[in-house]
Amino acid sequence: MAIDDHPPIVKSIAWATEADTQAFAEALAVKLLRQGADLNALIQLHGDLGAGKTTFARHLLKALGVTGRVKSPTYAVVEPYTVGGAPGDALNIWHFDFYRFNDPDEWEEAGFRDIFASTGLKLAEWPEKAGEHLPAADLDMALELQDGDVRMVTLSARTNAGAALLT
Ligand SMILES: Nc1ncnc2c1ncn2[C@@H]1O[C@H](COP(=O)(O)OP(=O)(O)OP(=O)(O)O)[C@@H](O)[C@H]1O
Ligand SMILES: [Mg+2]
Repeated sequence: MAIDDHPPIVKSIAWATEADTQAFAEALAVKLLRQGADLNALIQLHGDLGAGKTTFARHLLKALGVTGRVKSPTYAVVEPYTVGGAPGDALNIWHFDFYRFNDPDEWEEAGFRDIFASTGLKLAEWPEKAGEHLPAADLDMALELQDGDVRMVTLSARTNAGAALLT
């Protein structure tokens, strides 16, 4: 069995308020930053319109050190960020929203192949609209809006890198 070839590790949590979303994002950021310049992970964010994917991504990006406004990448499809000071120690982050990406043939032309071949953190909203070029996630996060604004979140770690983020 290959080292990454194991069943996913699944965890369920609830975010009762946005403060819970923020707290989770901050804890996850600590684990991600611990990996330093070696950090290389794809987190796919699943969930209906309004489930809270961008809200979570904003809290995570801020916790990772992104300053200023975090735009929703709905129109641009991807927003790139770099955090951390010294060259060679900088962390590249790409926040994707594939909602309006309806031509997967443009994958290469859009430069996405290069991005996914690069080291860094990739966050992807609406991964199901990206087509077959999108690599498998290290960590899948499925957000589901419940009564009373509670978000149920199912976390599925599919690689060792993903599992490291859950423990
Ligand atoms: N944990 C939360 N608690 C309360 N409200 C939240 C929470 N997360 C998000 N919201 C609210 O839900 C709304 C939609 O959130 P958001 O834009 O993050 O959804 P989304 O999943 O990115 O949607 P889309 O598919 O349209 O991109 C926003 O008004 C936001 O303030
Ligand atoms: Mg969004």
